[in-house]
Amino acid sequence: MKQTFWKEAVVYQIYPRSFKDSNGDGIGDIPGIVSKLDYLRELGVDVIWLSPVYSSPNDDNGYDISDYRNIHEEFGTLTDWEALTEGLHKRGMKLVMDLVVNHTSDEHAWFEASRQSKDSPFREYYYWREGKDGQEPNNWTSVFSGSAWEYDEKTEAYFLHLFSKKQPDLNWESPKVRREVYEMMRWWLDKGVDGFRMDVINFISKTPELPSVGEDRYAWGGDHFMNGPKLMDYLLEMKREVLDHYEVMTVGEMPGVNADQAVEITDEENGALNMVFQFEHVDIGSGAGGKFDLKPWTLHKLRGILHKWQIGLADKGWNSLYLNNHDQPRMVSRFGDDGEYRVLSAKMLATLLHTLKGTPYIYQGEELGMTNVSFERIDQYQDIETLNMYREATELHGKAPADVLRSIHVKGRDNARTPMQWDASANGGFTTGSPWLGVNPNYTDINAEAALQDTNSIFYYYKELIRLRKQHPIMVYGAYSLYLENDEYIYAYSREWEGKEWAIVLNFARHEVSFSCPDHWQGRSFARMTGNYDDTQIDRMQDFRLRPFEALVLELDS
Ligand code: GLC
Ligand code: CA
Repeated sequence: MKQTFWKEAVVYQIYPRSFKDSNGDGIGDIPGIVSKLDYLRELGVDVIWLSPVYSSPNDDNGYDISDYRNIHEEFGTLTDWEALTEGLHKRGMKLVMDLVVNHTSDEHAWFEASRQSKDSPFREYYYWREGKDGQEPNNWTSVFSGSAWEYDEKTEAYFLHLFSKKQPDLNWESPKVRREVYEMMRWWLDKGVDGFRMDVINFISKTPELPSVGEDRYAWGGDHFMNGPKLMDYLLEMKREVLDHYEVMTVGEMPGVNADQAVEITDEENGALNMVFQFEHVDIGSGAGGKFDLKPWTLHKLRGILHKWQIGLADKGWNSLYLNNHDQPRMVSRFGDDGEYRVLSAKMLATLLHTLKGTPYIYQGEELGMTNVSFERIDQYQDIETLNMYREATELHGKAPADVLRSIHVKGRDNARTPMQWDASANGGFTTGSPWLGVNPNYTDINAEAALQDTNSIFYYYKELIRLRKQHPIMVYGAYSLYLENDEYIYAYSREWEGKEWAIVLNFARHEVSFSCPDHWQGRSFARMTGNYDDTQIDRMQDFRLRPFEALVLELDS
């Protein structure tokens, strides 16, 4: 297995709108990020992934781009962006930009030209189709509720939008589109970008006929656009045309991808990208009605999925490791306990993230143990997915507003988007103005200033894990094996590398549980590498009781 910087790196995701506001308009911005670079260096992360900062009418918080080569005026200017890049590079950190090319904004010049006439040279940049029997060209729904088609008066035709109607899908079948995208990528790489996180990149190839699915008026068409027939061709072309000519890190966001596909895509010999973001583990706890149809999850299920990906990508390919991001609820609220055991469970989950094999991704505020938020009224929310779902559920399906709100408290994307909590001053020190989205009221307790003053904080635990990773290649390259595969509460595994063996034992329960020591570990002495309690209760491997959310990382003597 080749040793590379992106395998050894720890990535930190910044959602610019919510990170730090520098000018009091309530919106996070690039100068705000620049003012916090020393905080990031203190944590020890190697790579910053910046969610979109390009020009955008902001229908989907920047994931609807109107100019790929400019910075959104709310976030700053290209000069600010250059200062950010320089500040990162000076501190030995790299910058990964979000590449959103499954769709543009409907306010992008290409789309504006495209909608003018059927003969526009830009017509082929998008999916324009005639209606069928007075209805949409097919019955697909958009990810953000409603039909995936919008009728446009001007040329009396429909265009496809898998997300909001202000996010028309680009037609990757068009060589012109692909050429434009590659040129734009080179432009950023020449300006010093170190890689790309590619937004829903496995949606770019659609079944050419765009067929309806089943007989229902509306249905999820995912089988016809997730991991479509030409995905690999396009990605390999992008690699040949662009990526191969630079030293870059790439990660493709891929809802619906399975481990076999991920191996093909991330295979170092013949693949196209370094890593993918898979969704299986964050899709648990969803019922047949989708993510807002809440179902309980079990460790059995979570471990089964993570294990499958560890094994599937063991020899070929490489895993990304994440438990939350700007689209997911806060990990401590979801997989841990955001009450009494918040600190312990956040550290336990951090241990998981940094000791599985793959590249860990930290989402801003995760290192503070930031939690979900429960706003009381729907008008306190901003996220288009949440607002559209709420409207459809209450108006079309007659669901009780209180029930819908409850599911938003658990799964809504704004859980992760409330402003970063810097200190205990008004608005958590995020802004001197009025924040674009409410700050979680728990900022008085949970904030960066408090974390930096407490040697026992979640922040310093992350810092320690990151430091350990730099010291011990076993954390990066060690082979993974699972133990206690049927335990109800414990996720236990080992990593092995050059004659060394580490045992990782994680209790997912908010109570004590008994650990029955696997034979292979029985009786062995160890050195404690880290853990979320100050001590270990044993000095040799044996059966014993793990405390609530206890996490242990031990180097076993042979
Ligand atoms: C990705 C982004 C998400 C966005 C969507 C459409 O899933 O992470 O925030 O809404 O793509 O661009
Ligand atoms: Ca601002």
